[in-house]
Amino acid sequence: MSKALDGVRILDFTHVQSGPTCTQLLAWFGADVIKVERAGEGDATRGQLRDIPGVDSLYFTMLNHNKRSITLDTKKPKGKEVLDTLIKQCDVLVENFAPGALDRMGITWEHIQKLNPRMIVASVKGFGPGPYEDCKVYENVAQCAGGSASTTGFDNGPPMVTGAQIGDSGTGLNLALGIVAALYQRNTTGRGQKVLASMQDTVLNLCRVKLRDQQRLERTHTLHEYPQYPDGTFGEAVPRAGNASGGGQPGSILKCKGWETDPNAYIYLITQAAAWPAVCKVIGEEDWITDEAFATPAARLLHLKLIFARLEKWTMTKTKFEAMDILNKYDIPCGPILSMKEIAKEPSLRATGTIVEVDHPTRGKYLTVGNPIKMSDSSTEVSRSPLLGEHTEEVLAQLGYSAEEVAELRAEQVI
Ligand code: COA
Repeated sequence: MSKALDGVRILDFTHVQSGPTCTQLLAWFGADVIKVERAGEGDATRGQLRDIPGVDSLYFTMLNHNKRSITLDTKKPKGKEVLDTLIKQCDVLVENFAPGALDRMGITWEHIQKLNPRMIVASVKGFGPGPYEDCKVYENVAQCAGGSASTTGFDNGPPMVTGAQIGDSGTGLNLALGIVAALYQRNTTGRGQKVLASMQDTVLNLCRVKLRDQQRLERTHTLHEYPQYPDGTFGEAVPRAGNASGGGQPGSILKCKGWETDPNAYIYLITQAAAWPAVCKVIGEEDWITDEAFATPAARLLHLKLIFARLEKWTMTKTKFEAMDILNKYDIPCGPILSMKEIAKEPSLRATGTIVEVDHPTRGKYLTVGNPIKMSDSSTEVSRSPLLGEHTEEVLAQLGYSAEEVAELRAEQVI
């Protein structure tokens, strides 16, 4: 079977998480991704959070599947020459260095344009143009600057970051989409272009509903679906909403049987208006269907604490999976709080390739998260991440370097 990005060659100058997420996705779609790393250390994540001494970390392996790795010191003149050759022969350069690093290396947009006007140059940066454009940024900085932290957590607690890597992996996904769009546009213009995805922009994009609520709050001074309503107070900015549902359908996390010892014995339950009569029947409160204190969504917003306390009395008599089975029969939207242990074992996620077991020559078998995007005509086969410099000779030979030239580059510690 062919792949969507067959024939596309990517010069992967990325490191850590955001950039590698993007290029891994492109590799899964069939692009030939050549990861350029410094000899010796390589991508810093190879050695970070190691669970096996001397072996590429899971941090690295889980972000760099289906790529080839070459070592190259791009600050040495001969290394820069090799980089120039790569630029001439690749379609896309992807990088997520600190602002200005590529320019300091002499790899300016003008330089790239001269070598290959069809090249797409795609970058992740922490911030777009503005006061913070020169800053180095990691995940949690982006979550804070993009509006996620100020709107996450509980009303009486500090701002909170989330476990989902929305700033890193989220921005990598956006960049991949930008690259594919630029490749498509190149079909008609014949030109490359610069593609920028900033981490702050990505987080804000994912927090769109909170900017919606900011404007609602300024107009009406209240947000009826937030836990601060009706007894608490609202300030000038969107408050933290705890586990309240983000939409107009009230929801909450509720304890299930075993919660005393299992930190994940919980279920999320949404009292969607259409499902309200069914909710009442399930918990044995059929009177609430017609009781005017509960009969309409607006009336229920005044009594959410009482409603969810009653629902929890019911969920605490069931395991989260028993509750799921019962609630789903009535089309009541709900979801179990799944631990990573449970997710790792879930057969349906294995069957779809969302969780994949990979074999690695020095690590052995490990689990990874596969392609979240499934295509009927471009399947994804996840193959292990490359060892540092594993494909240096192979790639240089493809670029036209003779064995003698390669030996010379090695002797001069360029590769
Ligand atoms: N050969 C020679 N030099 C190389 C090289 C190679 N193959 N690869 C990288 N380098 C150099 C760079 O040119 C740079 O040198 P300079 O500082 O002299 O210009 C240097 O290595 C380090 O790059 P930098 O990006 O500054 O790394 P860092 O570890 O200090 O910072 C980040 C890491 C992530 C904070 C930073 O890269 C950044 O802010 N990136 C953009 C936002 C981002 O992607 N953040 C999320 C990461 S998950």
